[in-house]
Amino acid sequence: MKNLVILISGSGSNMAAIVQTAQREDWAHRLNARVSAVISNRADAPGLAFAQSHGMETAVVDHKAFSNHATPREAFDAALMAEIDRHQPALVVLAGFMRILTAGFVAHYAGRLINIHPSLLPAFGGLNTHQRAIDAGCRFAGATVHRVTAELDHGPILAQAVVPVLVDDTAQSLSARVLAQEHLIYPQAIRQLLLA
Ligand code: GAR
Repeated sequence: MKNLVILISGSGSNMAAIVQTAQREDWAHRLNARVSAVISNRADAPGLAFAQSHGMETAVVDHKAFSNHATPREAFDAALMAEIDRHQPALVVLAGFMRILTAGFVAHYAGRLINIHPSLLPAFGGLNTHQRAIDAGCRFAGATVHRVTAELDHGPILAQAVVPVLVDDTAQSLSARVLAQEHLIYPQAIRQLLLA
């Protein structure tokens, strides 16, 4: 059985879309794959409750617990890797996981680590993507599923979805339109990787 571990920091709606797609399409039987754990760096991430109520194992590795460490990022990533590796995942899925990962972490999961970002990469990596797309006058925005490399919001693109930017869009309205597409392309991209 191929295990997927999903990392979240917040509402976890992409995680929920993946879990629901996996259950609806019966990935366990058809793809020999299952979501084996949902891990958050925040104990108060709303997505944890959804994961628990859908039978997922959950864990919290709180990044703040490592702030007094000599090398906090490395210490946090080492603890996170230990938690993830309990599941020997075929795929580690970043789904709104809002931490910058060390090169060591990325190398450890080389070929098994993917992310979704709410812009048409390589445009608008980083934060505030929707407002930046509106401010730039973009007519189109979207989302990108990509393999994770050591450089933030880079890496080979696996899938993209495009939405129009409307004249009266706010960051909030554009974000909602993009997020609806994220919920479609992320499960699709994962299914394709599992079939490859
Ligand atoms: C999503 O829009 C995702 O693309 C974005 O955070 C949101 C998480 O929503 N990720 C990033 O910005 C990563 N750079 P969710 O918790 O409801 O899935």
